[in-house]
Amino acid sequence: MTVKAWTLTEKILAEHLVTGTMEKGAPIGIRIDQTLTQDATGTMAYLQLEAMGVGQVKTELSVSYVDHNTLQSGFENADDHKYLQTVAKKHGILFSRPGNGICHQVHLERFGRPGATLLGSDSHTPTGGGIGMLAIGAGGLDVACAMAGEPFMLNMPRVVEVRLLGALQKGVSAKDIILKVLSLLTVKGGVGKVIEYTGPGVATLSVPERATITNMGAELGATTSVFPSDETTRSFLRREGREDVFRPLAADEGACYDESHTIDLAELEPLIAMPHMPDVVKTVREVAGQSIDQVAIGSCTNSSYRDIMTVASILEGQHVAPHVSLVLSPGSRQVLQMVTEAGGLQKILSAGARLLECTCGPCIGMGQSPVTNAWSLRTFNRNFKGRSGTLSANVCLVSPETAAVSAIKGVIADPREASFELPEEPAVFLVDDSMIYAPEKEHPERVEVVQGPNIKPLPENTPLAASVEKEVVIKVGDNITTDHIMPAGAKVLPYRSNIGKISEFVFRDVQEGFKEHCQKVGGGIIVAGENYGQGSSREHAALAPMYLGIKAVLAKSFARIHAANLVNFGIVPLLFETAEDYDGIEEGDVLFLDFASLAPGKSVRVENRTKKKSFHARHNLSPLDIELLQAGGKLNYIKNKQKA
Ligand code: F3S
Repeated sequence: MTVKAWTLTEKILAEHLVTGTMEKGAPIGIRIDQTLTQDATGTMAYLQLEAMGVGQVKTELSVSYVDHNTLQSGFENADDHKYLQTVAKKHGILFSRPGNGICHQVHLERFGRPGATLLGSDSHTPTGGGIGMLAIGAGGLDVACAMAGEPFMLNMPRVVEVRLLGALQKGVSAKDIILKVLSLLTVKGGVGKVIEYTGPGVATLSVPERATITNMGAELGATTSVFPSDETTRSFLRREGREDVFRPLAADEGACYDESHTIDLAELEPLIAMPHMPDVVKTVREVAGQSIDQVAIGSCTNSSYRDIMTVASILEGQHVAPHVSLVLSPGSRQVLQMVTEAGGLQKILSAGARLLECTCGPCIGMGQSPVTNAWSLRTFNRNFKGRSGTLSANVCLVSPETAAVSAIKGVIADPREASFELPEEPAVFLVDDSMIYAPEKEHPERVEVVQGPNIKPLPENTPLAASVEKEVVIKVGDNITTDHIMPAGAKVLPYRSNIGKISEFVFRDVQEGFKEHCQKVGGGIIVAGENYGQGSSREHAALAPMYLGIKAVLAKSFARIHAANLVNFGIVPLLFETAEDYDGIEEGDVLFLDFASLAPGKSVRVENRTKKKSFHARHNLSPLDIELLQAGGKLNYIKNKQKA
């Protein structure tokens, strides 16, 4: 009998399988070991956890981070932080307070464990794949369910191998590897897939470098990305004082992949993602000389000790060009303290950089919006139009090396031309968990959860009717992101816990008065092109439309997390069978959707009452998805289950 050779993904999934048979594309349920939330999605997740009546969380560990909405120019964000701290204390959740760092960076340093499953209410949760864990981004409601001990449902992914050969030349770094992968696979290339890195090139990359690559796997639309756990992983964990959680893990020899790509690291050169998509990739050489206005270094993609010390080495004895604003937001307090002790911070500040908090900062549009028509180079992972807070800005994504060299020169520049030292990996990391608070063990029932006036009750949805007749309230094209649907930024984010208020911003930059129109016509249907809902995991991009009465989205294709979020909030995601069906609908048309016999694999009849035409729409809904939709969303479903 031949023994099957397993991919690393299959090994971890098999260890956690609760329901299903691991047949490609089929629904499976997996046990979740760890969860993380950040504040922008966390308040909803914990309101949902409370609504489910859960006492103590059932996971091995769950952490609530505050890293997104840290500007306090009103009481709203402060209210959210207080709620998060008290609700964590009551329900057995660790709390990482503002200033301790960005969730993914801190989780990698302090909690990630090879072979574990992590579910996070942030789309860059796959960062944890750098340490050999299966780390998946999901909506807050799915994370709340995982904390309640429910399995996480997904379709058994296909597994793509990216085989790395050789070693990077100086001036080329992990960011360039993932930009190369993005140029090969595009922002849709990872949908329904896990990207697994193999080959001799893996051993040349440190854990934080691997995490840069798995972090931006989110931009491929992938379920997650994962690296093997090897001696490099053991060394990282030892230096974090956590060697006890190490275990070696890799794919079996001869494991069978659904797709395979090879990248020779020695042949890579510095790359840049051009406005306004992470897969519009060029070589830095091609665009060198373009004048720039801003350089922002940091984010969960590129703010490890190695990244910041490399920047320090490039900036040493130099000065930022007078027309350029250089800002730095370190990924964690651990990184900031270590960079300070190693003398790196002094070099960075002397060069004229501005130091921001150890938070997401400009990545989520929390400050540092660039000047009108700016060219902004960022070491971040997303450059969607308007995400920076300046609609006219041209945001490009680059490595820390390219960012630092360009900041000095004032134009986009190739870092291979600069002379600098690559930092030594520290022998031990500076471990200080004093900003992570343990939950109440003795008497959790006595903890008072503080819910200030910015925290409004969860909106409720009604069960799905047998048919829906509604107006097409908006028709959009391809690659609509969750930033288009539910913008972020300093003006919007403080209302994350106040759905009535935040719904005023839905499609703000796409259509004027969207909320008022939805309210006037009593809700409606959204029509969209390819890859609808790509980008972040934010469930507000489903929750706020639900609040406005949206009952269905008809699209050519969906991003995975967003489609799941729509189902979770009782909005039916339907797929066009032909491009003509999409072309035949106009904004304002009234559609009749027949949901009377909604069933897996069975198409849905759509009648365009305005155009007097009808067609059929497909869907990929599982039996469970249909039950969720019929209940009016997952929260209703779980509440009904508990009542039964
Ligand atoms: Fe934060 Fe930006 Fe990452 S918002 S979690 S730094 S993608």
